[in-house]
Amino acid sequence: MVQKYVYGTPFHTEAVIRDIKGENGSPNYGTICLEDGFSFTYTLKEKDVVYGLGESNRGINKRGGCYISYCTDNPNHTESVKSLYAAHNFIVIAGETTFGLFVDYPSKLTFDIGFTRMDTLTITCEEADLELYVIDGDSPYDIVRQFRKIIGRSYIPPKFAFGFGQSRWGYQTKEDFRQVAEGYRKNHIPLDMIYMDIDYMQNYKDFTFHEENFRDFSQFVQEMKDQKIRLIPIIDAGVKIEDGYTVYEEGVKNRYFCQREDGSDFVAAVWPGYTHFPDVLNPEARKWFGDQYQVLMDQGIEGFWNDMNEPAIFYTPEGIEKVSQKMKTFLDDPETNSPWDVKDALEALSGSQEDYRAFYHQVEGQRILHDKIHNLFGYHMTRAAGEAFERIAPDRRFLMFSRSSYIGMHRYGGIWTGDNKSWWSHILLNLKMMPALNMCGFLYVGADLGGFGADATRDLVLRWLALGVFTPLMRNHSAIHTRDQECFRFENVEDFRHVVGVRYRLLPYLYSEYMKAALSDDLYFKPLAFVYSKDAHCAYVEDQLMLGNEIMIAPVYTQNAQGRYVYLPEEMKFVKFLPDGSLYEEILPAGHHYVEIGLNEVPIFIRQGKWIPVTDGAEYVEAINSSSWKAVGYAGGEYVLYEDDGISKDYENPKHWKRLNN
Ligand code: NOJ
Repeated sequence: MVQKYVYGTPFHTEAVIRDIKGENGSPNYGTICLEDGFSFTYTLKEKDVVYGLGESNRGINKRGGCYISYCTDNPNHTESVKSLYAAHNFIVIAGETTFGLFVDYPSKLTFDIGFTRMDTLTITCEEADLELYVIDGDSPYDIVRQFRKIIGRSYIPPKFAFGFGQSRWGYQTKEDFRQVAEGYRKNHIPLDMIYMDIDYMQNYKDFTFHEENFRDFSQFVQEMKDQKIRLIPIIDAGVKIEDGYTVYEEGVKNRYFCQREDGSDFVAAVWPGYTHFPDVLNPEARKWFGDQYQVLMDQGIEGFWNDMNEPAIFYTPEGIEKVSQKMKTFLDDPETNSPWDVKDALEALSGSQEDYRAFYHQVEGQRILHDKIHNLFGYHMTRAAGEAFERIAPDRRFLMFSRSSYIGMHRYGGIWTGDNKSWWSHILLNLKMMPALNMCGFLYVGADLGGFGADATRDLVLRWLALGVFTPLMRNHSAIHTRDQECFRFENVEDFRHVVGVRYRLLPYLYSEYMKAALSDDLYFKPLAFVYSKDAHCAYVEDQLMLGNEIMIAPVYTQNAQGRYVYLPEEMKFVKFLPDGSLYEEILPAGHHYVEIGLNEVPIFIRQGKWIPVTDGAEYVEAINSSSWKAVGYAGGEYVLYEDDGISKDYENPKHWKRLNN
């Protein structure tokens, strides 16, 4: 049962799409205080587990942390970081009393989950203008499924998007892309996509191609398609201020950019230098921005990634002015004044809330301060694209994922989890975020495999890929000036061929489980406790996940390890995909085990009595022969495979369901 409580005059975020009548009175759980903004306080019992918060730091169980929903461009995801790129305000408290909460509030919101006091959960925000959804159910899993029903069906990408993608910030010319394509194809490492980062644009201008390096763009797109590789360009939130640039000129003329209080277009520096932000909250401006994607679609492009849409701000002219004032004050009298004031002012330049309080959106004839709806920008930028795809090519699916997001955006695209690092701890963080993201509706998700910042090593990339085999978005991406980490750059390339190859052998199964989750508002990744609710130990397992209905994954995430400990809530078949293409299979009883897993092996655990279809794989998705499969797991029983053409949208066609028997 879902109950909605309305406080003040909330902004209509369209996160929830089911019509739910507001209740009078107070929720059955916790204490609400409306004296100084809004607060919800609840006393946690010792064994309560708190799930949710989508893309957020720390564990599957969020207890012991403080999390701030305020979309932030911060590339240092250390343990104490409170805000990342997204705001996913849904949690489930599971214990003797179990209930779910969704706080639909698009500005800064703090979840103190036993951080200040171990036994206290407090949710606070400055303005008491919000909708609070309280969900009762039989179990945390049941609550999540009810929540998923009210927020609408998750985005479904084309099937090619389940292939492997290579990305790197710094591919500048066609030659760079050709080298990557060749590196994969010559070494027979499967590949379906190469991502284009900002360098493909002319001076970082959205919806342009670099005049010299990408002349005859459509021909180049085709050249790659001839090799069965799709190019996936990036689109940034900020539109460069430059006379003669059509997108800029149209936006200014039609007043489609966010404005300052005095009506002038707000200015913020991002990659292109000074830019304006399209007012994607305004339906007319959103339509206009969405229509721009067609420029690339007309060149044969079938997918995009939306970046810098928190929206990230490096600095503003106002911020620079403040720094220069501080500098002047210091230089005028260095004896009395501190240089650290200048340093502090410099550090405060990027992503400052003061800047987010300096511009406005036009929504239904009303002017709304950006800060009040800050967390909705990435959502609406991606919505702009999603709505445009629907208008331009209503029968086709496009690949789309975004960096920033709010619940609701899950209907228009997936997400990647931003600028992680080539750190072993970030493999585990990747794993822990996955089920939480699914709970908030985001099914097409993945992290930068191999790590974005810092230098990757061969073993780290291999271990991370062995997790990435299972994430719907499987993309190796890295930052400019870091060590090259494409699979073919390392010695013994056959190990990479094998590990990425396992993804393609499993692809019909993984796609089928994704589609089942999407079509029935279910989870693709689950914490163990959602399946084994009676096993008290499962509530505390933080490094294993259930995937679909048949398997459990438990990747290795520590350097120099030869294997790992794993907890089996029931008897399972331990299966390793070995580098020679064969399988190691062993039935293990319930309980704790140490299992050996080589760097070039991919482990899965198949649940008792179940089996999955495994194919021969291929070098690209289209070439996978899904009718030639081998049953792996327990003998007997049937597996229901969902299979469609991967591009059109007639999801409900019963022809897509095939009963397979072993
Ligand atoms: C930030 C994004 O998170 C990263 O993936 C990208 O490579 C850079 N922007 C450059 O576009």
